[in-house]
Amino acid sequence: GGTVISASGSTQADILKVDGVIKAIGKVEDTADETIEAEGHIIFPGLTDCHVHFREPGAEHKATMQSEAASAIAGGITCVCEMPNTDPPTVTINALQDKILRAQKIDNFDMHFFFGVTNSMHLATLKELWTSDFEEYKHTKERCCGVKLYLDHSTGDQKIEEELIGDVFAACGELRIPIIAHCEDPVVNARAKAANGSEELSAHSIIRPAHSEALSIDKAIGQAKEHNATLHVAHLSSARGMGLIAEAKKDGLPITCEVAPHHLVLTTLDYDRLGTLCKMNPPVRSLEDNEALWQGLEDGTIDCIATDHAPHTLEEKKEGAPLDAPSGVPGVETALPIVLTRLKPEIIYRSMFTNPNTIFGLERPDLTEASDADIVIVDLTTEYAIKAEDLHSKCNWTPFEGMKVKGKVVRVV
Ligand code: DOR
Ligand code: ZN
Repeated sequence: GGTVISASGSTQADILKVDGVIKAIGKVEDTADETIEAEGHIIFPGLTDCHVHFREPGAEHKATMQSEAASAIAGGITCVCEMPNTDPPTVTINALQDKILRAQKIDNFDMHFFFGVTNSMHLATLKELWTSDFEEYKHTKERCCGVKLYLDHSTGDQKIEEELIGDVFAACGELRIPIIAHCEDPVVNARAKAANGSEELSAHSIIRPAHSEALSIDKAIGQAKEHNATLHVAHLSSARGMGLIAEAKKDGLPITCEVAPHHLVLTTLDYDRLGTLCKMNPPVRSLEDNEALWQGLEDGTIDCIATDHAPHTLEEKKEGAPLDAPSGVPGVETALPIVLTRLKPEIIYRSMFTNPNTIFGLERPDLTEASDADIVIVDLTTEYAIKAEDLHSKCNWTPFEGMKVKGKVVRVV
């Protein structure tokens, strides 16, 4: 009896699931072992978050695949694309296969992995993985959703060697490998940092300014155009950066982008209240940027909502000088309620299901007959406050503590 959101639009219907497979959507008269009353609720297929850091292997004290998968599922997300800045980093086939094996142990959860490239050896490995007809690599390649490029350093220090950038775009253009890029310009950032005299945390938004993001996006779009590569801009934070993406789209270039919930609802005004719990890369911007990004989601300039879920322990966040605290915030469990508080379910379906799945070739099941889609039931009627104690991430804190939202995931079946 819920409102089912799928490729065929939004309709009130019953869903009959038998042995994990949807047998009927419509009016279901059969009696089942379990009946869930969903009238007044909305129903999504299991959603996708195309940008998470689950920290395993190497930093299991922050998070594990198991703990963060539980957090994602509780937030209606049953498929993620995970980043390569782990220890060891995902820059070898061994490291990639190790992650795939670990992920296989997690029930009812679909993990894909980005390959990292910082030097020419990694690029050679990537090409080998993509072109080899070695049987063992087929499954490995299937689980690899693309290449992650850090155009400046962030957690994990995976900035790509400058002179290699063109080669990566050329190879990915030729081999049709999706590129996701962390766009911040290293020269602009270094200059802004050198010019900064403040030890205040709010300087974080000044030493990694919006024009750094914009310049980096501009250069990356140029590379994608030159090499006929598809480019997905990660965690877009500024109206300025978004303007460049809008232009590229108008020109018909295969450029897509994502926004993280923290860049929709947090700003530099929150540094006083949240301290380093509000520190991430790229940093928070202004209220005007927030507003522009919401509009970008509504008008389709922004393709995806992705969380950049990046847990660190509270101790790590709080020790030492604020500007030295690790960057990154958790968000995989709070994304859906935050965006449901403002956006129509259809826009969320597009930006957390259709678009990420298409961009990264994830082949996720929709709510249709004969599919094995996860059914995410969301209560949209009750307003509640986000509390870390209700969340499942190992890090046990959230930058959204106390925020009033609508849209509670009541079941995922
Ligand atoms: O804030 C961030 N945290 N930005 C990144 O680019 C990396 C991430 C992390 O892994 O902690
Ligand atoms: Zn990230």
